[in-house]
Amino acid sequence: MNVEKFIEKQLGGEPVCAYVYDLGKLRNHAESLKKSLPSFCRLYYAVKANPDGRLLQTLASTVDGFEVASEGEMEKVPLNRPMLFGAPAKKDREIAAAIDRGVEAINVESLHDLNRIALTAEKKQVEVPVLIRVNLSSDVPESHHMMSGVPTQFGVDERDLPQVMEKILDTSWISVEGFHFHAMSNNLDARAHVRFVELCLEKAKIWRDRYELSVSTVDIGGGIGINYWQPDDAFDWGILAYGLHSLEAQMEGLTLVLEIGRYMTAACGSYVTEVVDVKKIMTRLLH
Ligand SMILES: Cc1ncc(COP(=O)(O)O)c(C=O)c1O
Repeated sequence: MNVEKFIEKQLGGEPVCAYVYDLGKLRNHAESLKKSLPSFCRLYYAVKANPDGRLLQTLASTVDGFEVASEGEMEKVPLNRPMLFGAPAKKDREIAAAIDRGVEAINVESLHDLNRIALTAEKKQVEVPVLIRVNLSSDVPESHHMMSGVPTQFGVDERDLPQVMEKILDTSWISVEGFHFHAMSNNLDARAHVRFVELCLEKAKIWRDRYELSVSTVDIGGGIGINYWQPDDAFDWGILAYGLHSLEAQMEGLTLVLEIGRYMTAACGSYVTEVVDVKKIMTRLLH
C-alpha cells in the first residue's frame, strides 16, 4: 500500500506520523541473511532493535532464536522460540523468569551477576546454562571502531575472568555453554568485523582449553551498522559472510551466534510524517 493510501485509510486524511513496516521485505531480508551464513552459524534477532510483535512473528520462522534484555522482551517472543538473555543489571525477578522460561543461556556480566544467578539457580535447584560475556582488554588491530578494550558496564573485564571462572568451577548450579562478546555499535567495516570474530574465536578456544570447559557457543553479538548518511556505502554483508565461511576449519565444533538488531530491521521500516507547512527563514549573516 502506498503512503497516501495508508494515510487515507487509517486516518481519514488527518495529518499523520507513523512507523510503516514492510513485513514481506523483512522476511526476505532475514531469509537472505540466514541463507548466506555457514552451517556453524545461528542467526538470532536482538529484540531491543524493535520489539513490535508483528515483526517478531514475521521473523520467528526464519531466525534461530531471539536475544532478549528484559522480562518484557521475553514476554514478546513468540511461544517456544529459543532465547538468550543478557543484561548488565538484571532484576532478581528477571533471572527467575529466564530460568522458568527455559532460556538457552543467561549472560554472566560480572562476579556479582554470577553470584545472583547462582543463588536463584540454587533456590530453584536447577543447573543454569550461561554464556560469560567478556569485555576484551584489547581492540581489533587496525580497526577504526572501538570494539572492546574500553571500560563499560557490559561484561566481565577480561582481567577478571580468572576470578569468575574460579567461582564457576566451585558451584554446581552453573554450566558454562560459551562466551559472549558483543562489543561494538553501528560498525560499517565488514573486514574489521571478520577480524573481530577471529579474535573472539581465538580467545574462546584459549579459555575453553585453559579451564577445561566443554563449551559449544561463541556469541559475537550484533553491532552491524546502517550507513544512514551514505546508504551507497553500506556495510558489506557479503564480505562478512565470506569471512565467516573461511573460518570453517577453525571452528572445532563450536557454534557461532550472531545477534543482529538494527541491521535486521532498519531497511524494512520508515518513519512517515506528513508535511503540513514549510517555512522559509532568512538568516542574517553575522560578522
Ligand atoms: C548484547 C547485544 N546483542 C545484540 C545487540 C544488537 O546490536 P545491533 O542492533 O547493533 O545489531 C545489542 C545492542 O545493543 C546488544 O547489547
